[in-house]
Amino acid sequence: MIRLGIIGCGRISDLHAQAYLDHPGATITAVADTDPGNLATRGAAWGVPESARHQDYRDLLARSDVDAVEVLVPHHLHAPITLDAMNAGKHVSLQKPMALSMDDATTMVKAGHDLGVTFKVFENFVFYPPVVRARELIENGEIGELLSIRVKSNPGWSPTAWDVPAAASAWRIDEAKCGGGPLVFDDGHHKFAIAWYFLGLADRVHAFIGSTMDGLLDAPSMVSWTHPDGQVGSLEVVYSPDLQLHTEQYAQDDRVEITGTRGVIWITRGHGRMLDVPPVILYRDGETRGFSDMPTGWETSFLNSGRHFVDALLGGTAPSLTGEEGRDVLSFALAAQESSRTGGPVSLASGDRRPVGPLPGREPGQPRETGLG
Ligand SMILES: NC(=O)c1ccc[n+]([C@@H]2O[C@H](COP(=O)([O-])OP(=O)(O)OC[C@H]3O[C@@H](n4cnc5c(N)ncnc54)[C@H](O)[C@@H]3O)[C@@H](O)[C@H]2O)c1
Repeated sequence: MIRLGIIGCGRISDLHAQAYLDHPGATITAVADTDPGNLATRGAAWGVPESARHQDYRDLLARSDVDAVEVLVPHHLHAPITLDAMNAGKHVSLQKPMALSMDDATTMVKAGHDLGVTFKVFENFVFYPPVVRARELIENGEIGELLSIRVKSNPGWSPTAWDVPAAASAWRIDEAKCGGGPLVFDDGHHKFAIAWYFLGLADRVHAFIGSTMDGLLDAPSMVSWTHPDGQVGSLEVVYSPDLQLHTEQYAQDDRVEITGTRGVIWITRGHGRMLDVPPVILYRDGETRGFSDMPTGWETSFLNSGRHFVDALLGGTAPSLTGEEGRDVLSFALAAQESSRTGGPVSLASGDRRPVGPLPGREPGQPRETGLG
């Protein structure tokens, strides 16, 4: 049984907790949040007794009935809280982006290894069933060799979107706390992770990051990149204030198009749903095939990623993303920020590049080193 402590009981924590409440090998034993309201509401909802609800996360880390923590706080707190947790001997699952700088990311990766704790960077999009299905199709050779990836983030509005408290938006528009803008850096992490998941780490990134809503949103924006084997990729971010979307969480459409030497795959949804078409569409040999036999609710990406963390701890296997993989994706996201500032392309150090791991949830062959000892 893995006994979890959740640090940060804000907007996204509901989807994380569900994975642990559902898992027969996990239990949530303690929670921490500086906000007494979030602490009380989530603590009660997840069945955590008042004595195990802490306003100071260090009190949670001092508990002997917590094996692992889920860190769900604003980005500038990721590195210090993660390092404190590792020093307290806890395994860590940390929401993306893992840090605001590569130096902090490297310190965290090293601390995880030195202290013998498992470190997962929580990137849910690579656990989203349509994304996983697209990669399976590609691994089966359906579209030949990959040539390019095109990602589009298109936020709009929705009458069914969930409530986002003002506090959850405030730190996202403060660059010192978020690390960049809410769409290209914060949400962009998912898009760079998708590109990385299919094609590995880029080697050159060039970005134009725009501004709208009096500087609150970093759109319209365009990020383009190349990969070492010659493939190209792009991320287009556009905010459409009057675009109505179907969603139960954030009002955003995410579309991906992957082109190969003999076919094309589209992933037609992410946070929300706009197009009334199958979640995955494959075109090859003059024919179009749609794939709808998979769950498509965005929450499934969290459930699968959370379960995967517990399974990795129980099985002694490496989680996805590992700290090193999280650092690769972070370098991609930071390169876009730097390119937009300097106006020129940014090269990613080849020393940062490593092969992309096996499909999460699939038998990886040999379990990788985890530090679980
Ligand atoms: N994977 C995704 O799709 C996705 C979606 C949303 C958020 N996130 C990530 O989840 C994390 C949290 O985002 P959110 O939207 O839930 O933000 P939020 O602001 O709603 O929640 C953050 C919580 O942390 C608490 N907090 C702040 N300082 C603290 C401290 N020192 N100790 C303990 N608690 C503290 C706040 O009171 C708040 O309850 C971020 O890393 C964000 O990028 C990921």
